[in-house]
Order: sequence, then C-alpha cells, then structure tokens
Amino acid sequence: MKIKELEFKKLFAEKELLKRTQSLAKEINKDYKGKQPLFLPVLNGSFIFAADLIRDLKLDPKVSFVKHASYTGTASGGQLKSLIGLQESLFNQDVIILEDIVDTGLTVQKVIEEMATLGTRSVEVAALLFKKKTTPPAYKPKYIGFEIPDHFVVGYGLDYDGYGRHLRDLWYTEEHSGA
Ligand code: IMP
Repeated sequence: MKIKELEFKKLFAEKELLKRTQSLAKEINKDYKGKQPLFLPVLNGSFIFAADLIRDLKLDPKVSFVKHASYTGTASGGQLKSLIGLQESLFNQDVIILEDIVDTGLTVQKVIEEMATLGTRSVEVAALLFKKKTTPPAYKPKYIGFEIPDHFVVGYGLDYDGYGRHLRDLWYTEEHSGA
C-alpha cells in the first residue's frame, strides 16, 4: 500500500485492533467500577480508537474531546496550556486521557504535569500504541493496546501528512525516519 512516496505494510488488521480495544475497555471498566471518570480523547489521531473504546465502557462516562495546542500562549489561571478545548473542571476528577500513540512520551508527560496542578483526583493514560525504543520513554501509559517496533504507522485514525486516517487497518513503513 502506498501513501504519497512511502510504501506501507500491514501491522494489525481492523479485527485485532477492535478486539484489543475492547479488552482495554474491559480492564478500565473493572478498575474504575463505581467511579465516573472523565475521558479526554486527544484529537486528531485518537478519534477512531476513542469511538471504539468509549462504546464498550459501562461507567456512565463523561467524554470531552481535546487537542494539543500547537503553541503555548499566555497562561490564564486554571487553564491547561498544552491542551485546548477543555470546558470541564478537573477538580477532584478521575481523568483518563486517550491517545493514539505514545512515542517519546514527552507530549503526554507535559499534559499530565499540567493536570496535576488543577487538582485532579487521578490521571491515567490509555494509548492504543506504544513505541518500543532503545531509550526509556519519558512516560509509559498504564493502559497500552499494543507495543510496536519503532516504525512510522498510519491508519485507524493516525495519519501521514494528513492522509491515511480513514484506513481500517494499521500500516507501518520502514522508510520514514521520524514521527
Ligand atoms: P511523543 O511526544 O514523542 O510521544 O509523540 C506523540 C505524538 O506524535 C502522537 O500523538 C502522534 O501525533 C505523533 N506520532 C508519533 N509517532 C507517530 C506515528 O508513527 N504515526 C503517526 N503519528 C505519530
């Protein structure tokens, strides 16, 4: 399969992705039984993973979509600088961030550090994918769908230069040098 100049090979079929996502939801249902966590899917990449996971939750969850700010503007009190779109108060709230992929872990680590300053009761991350690297990650999520080799991937919500998010399966390339 080709996107622009890069050749991609299949890593996981849709069926495997869905099965794993369902078992993550089961784990979260068990761990958060009796609680009402706030789920924060981080756009754009997590939209398909989030749609599948959320529909298997039995927690009466609250869901609010957020996005990484591409710049950090002036900090206004009580607001997250690195995530935009959040309307809810995080005070005393159990929060579960939904990410498509954690690579170095730096992005998600920054978000978690900021959340801690807003009085959250707990913050965990559920990532569909976690890249195995030679250097240890800045942050390792509690909930991980798949640990994958350090290759660039597309599909199931993830893109290459804006393309490939619609693909049902997950694909990888060995030709792309960085994320
Ligand atoms: P980190 O800060 O290095 O963990 O980068 C995480 C972000 O980089 C993800 O949320 C993705 O947006 C992007 N990313 C990292 N690896 C890939 C990949 O293989 N395909 C698509 N996006 C990626």
